[in-house]
Amino acid sequence: MTLRAVVKGVGHYLPERIVPNAEFEQTLDTSDEWIKSRSGIERRHFAAEGENTSHLATKAAKAALADAGLEADDIDAIIVATSTADLTFPSAATMVQAQLGMTKGFAFDVQAVCAGFVFALTNANALIVSGQAKRALVIGAETFSRIMDWEDRATCVLFGDGAGALVLEAEDGKGDKSDRGILATDLNSDGRHKDILYVDGGVSSQTTGYLRMQGKEVFRHAVEKLAKTADTSMAKVGITADEVDWIVPHQANIRIIKGTAKKMNIPMERVVVTVQDHGNTSAASIPLALSVGKANGQIKEGDMIVTEAIGGGLAWGSVVLRW
Ligand code: UT7
Repeated sequence: MTLRAVVKGVGHYLPERIVPNAEFEQTLDTSDEWIKSRSGIERRHFAAEGENTSHLATKAAKAALADAGLEADDIDAIIVATSTADLTFPSAATMVQAQLGMTKGFAFDVQAVCAGFVFALTNANALIVSGQAKRALVIGAETFSRIMDWEDRATCVLFGDGAGALVLEAEDGKGDKSDRGILATDLNSDGRHKDILYVDGGVSSQTTGYLRMQGKEVFRHAVEKLAKTADTSMAKVGITADEVDWIVPHQANIRIIKGTAKKMNIPMERVVVTVQDHGNTSAASIPLALSVGKANGQIKEGDMIVTEAIGGGLAWGSVVLRW
């Protein structure tokens, strides 16, 4: 028998304030038409003053626990993928732990920017299959609105705030691709590409900084690297494109999503797309899309799902799981 990390619940939270593209036309030389045609984004949510990443994460976690029919005390481990934690330390994950009223187990953050959720899922899978945790909450949560340069039209129109969460539980499987749960993972990074996507501040340089991106360069890496990592994970499981029910990609740009699906030979009817409503929510985008995809009836138990993401680092990777 093979121990598998199986999804038992999913949930998300989006801040109340919705900002349509048109709002940026008032302060920047931009247009709804440019934003929509270049990125696919139509609106995004921004957190309210005083509403921080751990607050979004906790709400998503509560929704996922309710979906799983579990209580916070049933959880052994919390992993939060984020680049925008409330404080330098402690971790957002320990803050979520406290907000959930948990006094046992352990919690930590993972920082791999937009690829953070794929890295967090891979870590949670390792903890579960090695017997160190029976149930894990894996959360992607971000407040990227706090690191936007509102005068830089090339970046500030692209990002949004939000959180999504999964509850994973150890379950015995047969050890083949018919099992539910995480079936394969693939992680990569290449620090030589730091300058194409980064924040120009940080604790050690004693500033907060703003997100800086050479969009065209990131785009160029994205389609190629995402298709390749998805291929690698699928090969580990031994599945072909016809066996994939859903691609649930990082939601950065509809053109990247379409380009990657095309390279993978998977039609857009089998891709969960939320970028129009959420913008790029970095590490939150995949769990948000999983939660929305389940809520609207796309994702069902037994479906074969491929997730893939790339972001600052560069860091990128993929996870294949059967829902
Ligand atoms: O999640 C992490 C990973 N991030 C990504 O995956 C993002 C990857 N990159 C992208 O999604 C796209 O490159 C962008 C959406 C960022 C940009 O699209 P693009 O088609 O690559 O446009 P561009 O950067 O080449 O800019 C084209 C033109 C430029 O003007 P010129 O030089 O042609 O005169 C920009 O100055 O569009 C201009 N521009 C804008 N115009 C109106 C840039 N931003 C805006 C704007 N409104 N907001």
